Amino acid sequence: MAAVRDRKSGGPGKEPIAVLGMGHVGLPTALGFAELGWQVLGADDMVEKIDHLKTGKATFYEPDMQELLTKHLASGRFQPTKDVDAAVAAARVVFVCVGTPQRENGAADLSQIESVARTIARNLNGYKLVVEKSTVPASTAERIKRTIGRYARTETPANGTNGRRAAGKESGARFDVASNPEFLQEGKAIHNFFHPERIVIGVESDQARQLLEDIYRPLKCPIVVTDLATSELIKHSANAFLSTKISFINMISDICDAVGADVASVARGIGLDPRIGHQFLSAGIGFGGYCFPKDLKALLYLAEEHGVPGGILRAVEDVNLRRIEVFMDKLRHALWVLQGKKIAVLGLAFKPLTDDIRESPALRVVEELLKEGAAVRLYDPEAMPAAQQVYPEAPGRVDYCRSAYEAARGAHAVVITTEWEEFRKLNWKKMQEAMEVPVLVDGRNLLDPSAMREAGFEYFSMGRGSRQVAMTASAK
Ligand SMILES: NC(=O)c1ccc[n+]([C@@H]2O[C@H](COP(=O)([O-])OP(=O)(O)OC[C@H]3O[C@@H](n4cnc5c(N)ncnc54)[C@H](O)[C@@H]3O)[C@@H](O)[C@H]2O)c1
Repeated sequence: MAAVRDRKSGGPGKEPIAVLGMGHVGLPTALGFAELGWQVLGADDMVEKIDHLKTGKATFYEPDMQELLTKHLASGRFQPTKDVDAAVAAARVVFVCVGTPQRENGAADLSQIESVARTIARNLNGYKLVVEKSTVPASTAERIKRTIGRYARTETPANGTNGRRAAGKESGARFDVASNPEFLQEGKAIHNFFHPERIVIGVESDQARQLLEDIYRPLKCPIVVTDLATSELIKHSANAFLSTKISFINMISDICDAVGADVASVARGIGLDPRIGHQFLSAGIGFGGYCFPKDLKALLYLAEEHGVPGGILRAVEDVNLRRIEVFMDKLRHALWVLQGKKIAVLGLAFKPLTDDIRESPALRVVEELLKEGAAVRLYDPEAMPAAQQVYPEAPGRVDYCRSAYEAARGAHAVVITTEWEEFRKLNWKKMQEAMEVPVLVDGRNLLDPSAMREAGFEYFSMGRGSRQVAMTASAK
């Protein structure tokens, strides 16, 4: 594993680090700190998750993660625990990595953060640095501070802690709250931990700054030090900006379709300008996942709550929501009637190299297909167990397949909804032989249009003049 350097056992600090929340951020972070030599307590209140980790198996798929988990359960530097109170009591630095889902009104649901703040309050048995790693709206750190300060005086420690009543700020047990937003990308989480482009820390004291700089020093990257609210806003701004790039190119993609232009060339033509850059300019069925949709909403809510018109952010969201309709229109254009058709869906995860299906555009496509009475034959290299929880197998209507070839069997169309590398490398001749009709709708612009047409497919993609070309071809 290239990302992981070998280190001698023993930790750089005497006291362990506690990481609260063993999810997509917490687990890679905890294992990263263990690899850097720290003793890490990885706490989660979901008992099954901890039991699962203790068996030595990762709870979700992330490249290189299983190897690190095995290594640091064996080294003893990573200890999963369901005793969140005891983990907080034992640590000096506590990283908060719990979820911040979206509420109905678009605001961030901060109940997990609040609950953790109270856990920290009742275990404040000495100076602690509370590091907010979860993505939260600006001013959340202030609320965490207030909550810890308030509850530290009133709550008693839980069983398993040192048995002393938490002292609270007034009687000497000090704490700092810092903001340290996480920028990892699922599918590259371990790599991102060891090779960050930057680390952002929002702090209010030299002690907090020093502790975080010491922890992150081995990673050798620029550290941006700010106040708390600025640090919190950096994370939301980063995600909103990346979402904006995606929606921008998706809108251009629709114009390309209308005028017969090629969005991939537009992206290349503008991306070579270093002020624009190439990344996040892939047209397709839009962004999903646990972060972009909810973080965009949360920032929009924050802006409007403070009287700042959310114009751009709202437009970014609107374009994204329309992507599935644009895609379904292409499929209807290709097949006319969807009812009773068999559609092979390649890709269920919200992006490649993960089994995460949260807010996955692929699942929105599945939902639309089922609504229109089509039967779906589903395949994803990693995300099928998760998808089965949402769409259970129903033979003849919802079939999970062991390979893309099996999914293509008898299909009236194949659709690509996640850009797994595996799909690019398929033997498309073999795929075609298995299909009833050679219609291919590439929602991720993964394949080469002329190669696919030469191979005999009726091929449609996003913003690469496909409708135009298909019409021209059929007019001949
Ligand atoms: N997933 C990503 O790619 C990513 C990237 C950057 C930032 N973030 C942010 O990081 C945060 C966590 O995201 P995630 O994807 O890891 O979420 P997740 O749902 O995968 O994990 C959250 C974990 O916190 C645990 N938890 C909840 N309440 C708890 C409590 N009181 N004590 C202990 N554990 C508790 C849950 O059981 C769960 O295991 C969110 O704010 C998210 O926006 C996520």
